[in-house]
Amino acid sequence: MLLYINANSNTDEFSTTSKIANAFVKEYAKGKEIETYRINLIDYLLPELDRDVYSENDKEITETKLKRRNKALQDFMEANIVVVAAPMWNFLYPAVLKTWIDSIVISKKTFEYTSKGPNGLAGDKKVLFIQSSGGNYEKHPEMNHGLAHFKTIMKFMGIKEISTILAGGTAKNREALLEEKTAEAIELARTF
Ligand SMILES: Cc1cc2nc3c(=O)[nH]c(=O)nc-3n(C[C@H](O)[C@H](O)[C@H](O)COP(=O)(O)O)c2cc1C
Repeated sequence: MLLYINANSNTDEFSTTSKIANAFVKEYAKGKEIETYRINLIDYLLPELDRDVYSENDKEITETKLKRRNKALQDFMEANIVVVAAPMWNFLYPAVLKTWIDSIVISKKTFEYTSKGPNGLAGDKKVLFIQSSGGNYEKHPEMNHGLAHFKTIMKFMGIKEISTILAGGTAKNREALLEEKTAEAIELARTF
């Protein structure tokens, strides 16, 4: 299953990130018998790791909230390809993506601690992170906290294959960049 996580309030009609991601998913699925499952995190808000979820005080509230979070975890565990599309927001990614990450990084499910240290349990997946940003951070990757954090988290869960498509510089020339990065996405989808 290909899981496509979209974290953006901007709609597909206007979003550079989503247009690039949509092109990738469409090309990847061409001629393959693969189920693709898209989740818009803005429309399908996941419960935060709040007091209910954290301490499981109120059984009823906790169960409803946990159900949603567990579904996100289940979807992630079942996927063998995960495409995450998120624009840069304040040098990170939209907060809904962090909530999704908090739902899937779960002890004994996607990672475990052993006597030798942490061990990732989700190593069977290929992950693609697609990000567009107003500025271009090629010369200043240390400012792209979203990309750095996403990679750290995926590696922590044992994922070795993390590909990226970075459309940096939409503030200058969005249309040209969209064209260039869509072509890159289609090319990547053919060999992914
Ligand atoms: C709330 C918000 C915060 C943003 N923060 C940054 C930022 O820190 N750095 C940057 O280069 N661009 C920033 N941008 C610009 C977007 O990353 C850029 O317009 C991107 O192409 C949007 O992607 P989209 O078309 O998929 O929505 C921000 C935009 C918004 C709406």
